[in-house]
Amino acid sequence: HLEESIRPYIDLIDTLRSAGIHKDLALPTIIVIGDQSSGKSSVLEALSGVPLPRGSGIVTRCPLELRLKKVNVGVNWKAVLSYSNNKIEFVDSSLLENHVHAAQNELAGKGVGIRDDLITLEIMSPDVCDLTLIDLPGIARVPVNGQPQDIGNQIKRLIRKYIEKQETINMVVCPCNTDIATTEALKIAQEVDPDGKRTIAILTKPDLIDRGTETRILDIVHNKVIPLRKGYIMVKCRGQQQIDDNISLEEAAQMESDFFRTHEHFRCLLEEEKATIKSLAVKLSQHLVGHIKKSLPQLNEQIKKKLWDLKNELKECEAGPPQDPKGAKQFLIKTLTRFNEEIKSLSLGEQITEDHL
Ligand code: GDP
Ligand code: NA
Ligand code: MG
Repeated sequence: HLEESIRPYIDLIDTLRSAGIHKDLALPTIIVIGDQSSGKSSVLEALSGVPLPRGSGIVTRCPLELRLKKVNVGVNWKAVLSYSNNKIEFVDSSLLENHVHAAQNELAGKGVGIRDDLITLEIMSPDVCDLTLIDLPGIARVPVNGQPQDIGNQIKRLIRKYIEKQETINMVVCPCNTDIATTEALKIAQEVDPDGKRTIAILTKPDLIDRGTETRILDIVHNKVIPLRKGYIMVKCRGQQQIDDNISLEEAAQMESDFFRTHEHFRCLLEEEKATIKSLAVKLSQHLVGHIKKSLPQLNEQIKKKLWDLKNELKECEAGPPQDPKGAKQFLIKTLTRFNEEIKSLSLGEQITEDHL
């Protein structure tokens, strides 16, 4: 059974990340990237069934880890938001936006700056799929008021840092109504994954394309233009008008299915399982678990090596400082030098985050 085979793998990685392992070792995960307004939040909220903070301009200002857990008993809907030393639990999904905003303001300051600290949002509900994804700030082309000139580069640097690891699956969100070949996010994904082995592209806004461009877009979905091993999936989410009209996510899912079923050109994608949020959810879970299974032996080796190194270091400490004056002096110099280097690298780290603000 799909569900039961997936959960333990995702839980294992989530637990390792909670323990802070990701600071030492790269963990398998799905990273969502895309240009600003490409539809990232719309895809995430459709996957999670929860309206997420959105708007024009930069909304995601810190990496947001979204852990979706399908629970069949006990809970209707429950969320736990964790960041730095805070942990907030709530059962009213309408509070979500405010909580996430508050967390971002606390970490990245009020305004439009970005910051590399992770916010974790765990959602437990019978209506979500089992999946963990990390949402990153969207790539801005032009800085808005109050943003540093190089905000675009800052965001790209943050994205690169996350997606360059072999352990990540890069989910690139591109609107159908723009030239996909020139999408900045897809270019960055191609830089770090030239063979397209761990990149999956999500084509959004199929309802907004110009007449006559359908064939070219189908060629893209059929992997004929920019080939990606994990391929393409087309989804239709709520447009601004539908949000203003209070169309629920459930209704939107029905409208999405109707859209594809009746579309002259894109109808074929349903059978090929290359369309709808629903097939995206299934595919993402499969990819993630496949990726985790593949990474486990390597992860095991890396953890063993870390443990071995630490044990050796511990042994050195157990012996204590040498007793003879010459040895003691050398020991003192070595310790001070190491301390000095650590302080230096710490203060360098500070500077980088200050630049970010
Ligand atoms: P983000 O900045 O990448 O997170 O983009 P958002 O998810 O906030 O979406 C930007 C805008 O595009 C919003 O007004 C959405 O309602 C709209 N949008 C997203 N997906 C679709 C879609 O499939 N069709 C239409 N018509 N609009 C969409
Ligand atoms: Na946005
Ligand atoms: Mg967004």
